[in-house]
Amino acid sequence: MNFVEAIARKRDGLELTSAEVQAFVRGASHGQIGDEQLAAMLMAICIRGASERETQDLVEAMRDSGASWKLGEAVPDAVDKHSTGGVGDSVSLVFAPLVAACGVPVVMMAGAGLGHTQGTLDKLAAIPGFRTVLGGSEALDRLARCGVSIAAQSEDIAPADRKLYLLRDVTATVPSLPLIVASIMSKKLAVGAHRLVLDVKCGSGAFCKTPEVARRLADALMGVGQRAGVTLRTLITDMSQPLGDRLGCANEVRAAIEVLSGAGDRRLRELTVELAVEGLVLAGRTAESARAELERRLADGSALARWAEVVRAHGGDPDESRLARPSRTVLVPARHGGFVAAIDGEGLGWIAVALGAGRRRQGDRVDLSAGLRVHARVGDRIEPGQPLATLEVGDRSVEIDALVSRAAAAFRIEGDPPPKTPLILARLGGAA
Ligand code: URA
Repeated sequence: MNFVEAIARKRDGLELTSAEVQAFVRGASHGQIGDEQLAAMLMAICIRGASERETQDLVEAMRDSGASWKLGEAVPDAVDKHSTGGVGDSVSLVFAPLVAACGVPVVMMAGAGLGHTQGTLDKLAAIPGFRTVLGGSEALDRLARCGVSIAAQSEDIAPADRKLYLLRDVTATVPSLPLIVASIMSKKLAVGAHRLVLDVKCGSGAFCKTPEVARRLADALMGVGQRAGVTLRTLITDMSQPLGDRLGCANEVRAAIEVLSGAGDRRLRELTVELAVEGLVLAGRTAESARAELERRLADGSALARWAEVVRAHGGDPDESRLARPSRTVLVPARHGGFVAAIDGEGLGWIAVALGAGRRRQGDRVDLSAGLRVHARVGDRIEPGQPLATLEVGDRSVEIDALVSRAAAAFRIEGDPPPKTPLILARLGGAA
């Protein structure tokens, strides 16, 4: 097949055949198609979209691009959790040890940063020694040792997603519903948990900016899961501002440890508990007993103790003092007073990337110490000059004055308080 013709057909809005989709995925995983052609196809899909049949073909071809671990057969109770991506979203780091501390095993195939969002794998890389490139038997070993396995896409498992993910990250081709569905569901199905909790993000810091688009994404993800026999619970959640108050790799590990210690950012804690409730409900608990047990595990130190076990079982050092620290911090003052009416989450995410917390080109090294802290949340009353955020600068050379101005502009301050937005916009349950 001449792959240029397939790119041209998608460019012109035509449907790809199953053979063309398979050739695209095979070419990505085995290196037979170069990055320029893969990127052109990704952009064509991003602009033209894909039909349900093309999306299902993509999911299946990407799922089958590597091994199939079938962990749900070995550990039928295991639950997986995935977010569609947002800023300040360190839920996975809390969810895994917290749910495991309640006796429900957690298997996760996580991703690195994508576009303006920071990914779980990059955050885990901030923990000295933490290893996420695992084989299937190592994943089972981690589950037996600590009740949690967190793995990365690799040459062994989901290699097509590994390749396309890295390309999407640096070619502005992330916010495409079919590509998001294929990326998430292919790796979930390759790992093979029978139960899945999805967090579909909606708002300025997410890839879906409106509830309608988020609902379409949720329905598409759930449709693929249900066709594969997976039982899913999905929350559509607010990302109209960063979820937690920290962005960046080491920063978000610290945010997770704070929540696991029974304190931490209120919104991050609340959403994590709600997603964990869904995970325990999938394991047969009632929502009420699940919520009570989760709160108990956060309060009595067992969630934090499980975190240390999870880190050790993955080869890491749980000593928080070994996390990277920024070389300097710069405050972002409010230009005038009023109420914070809106926060441009994507804008703040790109500032974190500019500081080094994400990649601008393939192969960029992520600065684990870089990021930012958010001091003002939507609805807060602000005095002129009050700090809205702190930029945390690592070793990348940056134009700090420009970043400070961009960060200040990401906070829209008005005379009246905005209406309150709930953290959870919808709860969708689906049985296989
Ligand atoms: N998470 C993924 O794994 N892939 C996406 O495309 C978005 C979020």
